[in-house]
Amino acid sequence: MPMTSLNINGRSIDAKLGETLLEVAERGGLALQCDCGHTTCESTRVTVISGEVEANGSRLKSTVLACKATVAGDAELKLPASSELQSLKGHVSAVRKVSDDLFELRLSFTKPISWRPGQYYHVEFRGQERVNLFASFALDAGTEFNTLIFLIEQANTPDLFAMLAKKGDVKGRVGITGPYGSSFLGHDDEPLIMVAGPNSLPPIWAMALSSVMGQPRREKMLILDQSLKQDQFQQVFNWLNRRGIQPTFADLQGVGAAETLQALLPDLTEFDMAYMAGSRDFIASLEHVFIEAQATYGRIPNFQPWDDVAEPIDDAAAMEPAE
Ligand code: FES
Repeated sequence: MPMTSLNINGRSIDAKLGETLLEVAERGGLALQCDCGHTTCESTRVTVISGEVEANGSRLKSTVLACKATVAGDAELKLPASSELQSLKGHVSAVRKVSDDLFELRLSFTKPISWRPGQYYHVEFRGQERVNLFASFALDAGTEFNTLIFLIEQANTPDLFAMLAKKGDVKGRVGITGPYGSSFLGHDDEPLIMVAGPNSLPPIWAMALSSVMGQPRREKMLILDQSLKQDQFQQVFNWLNRRGIQPTFADLQGVGAAETLQALLPDLTEFDMAYMAGSRDFIASLEHVFIEAQATYGRIPNFQPWDDVAEPIDDAAAMEPAE
């Protein structure tokens, strides 16, 4: 097979035409958090700085999924600066029932945990199917050393929710692996637009809180589907309001949702950074608003290991050449 080479994060690695970028990166000893094995998790998204790659339907602006895209010639790539994958055992340090649909769960570990807002973990309780949970913050914005906080919603993980509801006081050991996901809050200063769909507040809450605390001067906009306007999240909205962030609630699911979203946004440019959390369908129905405006945009798909395998979200964007 013809040979070429990829420059990944400044390291030159021999490559064969047709190999996936992931295969080349792994051979070069560069770790990418490959989770789903197809195109659902967005964990292997890399930036094509120059050269040619065959995106195979995974292009989003100047990025492609390394698990899907293949070598088409010399190219220079940049991997996201994410944390290393960790597999750890921890234990439940607190479970708080917030409402009939929501628990706040704290897991404690003996080592520091490192994740970025927008990332998720595989979480495994004994006797339970593995679930994907976004790392987040408590509803009152509290956090603790060596602790992971998850918001457990009945709609996302019904079996885990039922187990917590039944046992009330769970003290068992829990295994986690992560963090996964390449759409996470970076150290940028572009205006930040955060959008959350149904049952997808936790990663956006994590992002909003982190940005308020760590990036006080960054412009921020928070647009939430109206289904999230619930008493159980009131503490979150109060906390944000007190810091000058007023979430906008809108019908982002009905007919005309894209127009509704568009009307709420300022004129977008490539200097806007937008993140959207939600189900695949939710994301697919709205993301063209950001893609067409050439805004920098990251998907935060809310999915579970048992969800169906699906085709890439947006093939139209895949036609765009790399910049
Ligand atoms: S492993 Fe490629 S997107 Fe999930």
